[in-house]
Amino acid sequence: MEIIRIEGIAKSYGSHQVHKDLTLSIKRGECFTLLGPSGCGKTVLLRLIAGFENPDAGKIFIDHTLVTDPAGGIAISPDRRGLGVVFQDYAVWPHMTVFDNVAYPLKIAKWSKKELKERVMETLEMVGMSSLERRLPSELSGGQQQRVALARALAANPTFMLLDEPLTNLDANLREEMRFEIKELQRKLNITVLYVTHDQEIALAISDRMAIMDDEGRIRQTGSPWEIFERPADPFVFNFMGIANYIHVRREGDDYLVGSGEQRIPWEPPKGDAPRWVAGFRPSDVQIAPMGSGLRGTVKRASFLGSMIDYLIEVDGTQLRTSIETHEAIAKGLMLKEGDTCVLSFRDLLWFNAQSLTEVVRQ
Ligand SMILES: Nc1ncnc2c1ncn2[C@@H]1O[C@H](COP(=O)(O)OP(=O)(O)OP(=O)(O)O)[C@@H](O)[C@H]1O
Ligand SMILES: [Mg+2]
Repeated sequence: MEIIRIEGIAKSYGSHQVHKDLTLSIKRGECFTLLGPSGCGKTVLLRLIAGFENPDAGKIFIDHTLVTDPAGGIAISPDRRGLGVVFQDYAVWPHMTVFDNVAYPLKIAKWSKKELKERVMETLEMVGMSSLERRLPSELSGGQQQRVALARALAANPTFMLLDEPLTNLDANLREEMRFEIKELQRKLNITVLYVTHDQEIALAISDRMAIMDDEGRIRQTGSPWEIFERPADPFVFNFMGIANYIHVRREGDDYLVGSGEQRIPWEPPKGDAPRWVAGFRPSDVQIAPMGSGLRGTVKRASFLGSMIDYLIEVDGTQLRTSIETHEAIAKGLMLKEGDTCVLSFRDLLWFNAQSLTEVVRQ
């Protein structure tokens, strides 16, 4: 079931420890995304899996074969690991045609001329580049170069692909198109993909499972996109997965009051006896209305974003972000401006321990 197993990996550069004791496994046939902030060690991990670097300690198994084990003196070379890799800068060779770029790994593996030609054309067809095989990379758009890099990684028929931020240099439309194409290819060819990114949207869109890595290279949570978004294991994950709103709540007798004001919370109180709490929300869980029941607030900033309007609302010393579709705002009389009052209601919330903000308190 497991195609990659990483066990207790440690890696330092000088005095900078990137990975301490990292353990992770990836199942055959899944699209697994590793999501984490810039500099957290994602590329380093891919280089370790691919065999371009060696860890200080730990083991890596690919398809149940031990390929990395510094303690046992094992370090199988990258070309013998059966992986397809697209690196962050997706460097295609500028002096080689599209055809030669894709043929390169097959030449190294000493494919016969006829088979090589067939395979290159077949791979270019897969990524929608079959008519451009004679061009040089300088005659291609960024997105087309990206496809060449992908084709080169696919050429030798890998069962496992490592993709490091392969879409960052593309414009928003192309990025969206390519992410669906990568997912399609992964399904069609039934390959396993480890996709590395700091883009939450891409991760949510393409993953079967994903892992969230923090700045220290620790994995905070592994799960389906749904679990990660809706059931964050801790505030780091909650924060990292999108804009987070927090409302501070204090207990006075039997009442739970918002911020520094006198409004009572419009939700079930948290279970537990702490005097101070923090409620966390996504902007999509906050609904705004001109009047009615809910928390009263004042518009601090209204930003028109085309199809959406983004509001910053102040409620008793706490600021919250929420957004509404423009046509809905027009229909409901919610084209608000700075200083207008409004009422907020909430669909879903998570309680946090206010003292540390390090613990999610499940209701
Ligand atoms: N060869 C190296 N020598 C020294 N330090 C390195 C080396 N490679 C990476 N690092 C350091 O290791 C840390 C992790 O780097 P890595 O490239 O894995 O980050 P990343 O998660 O891929 O970030 P990004 O999202 O920006 O690509 C960084 O602090 C980086 O400076
Ligand atoms: Mg990187």
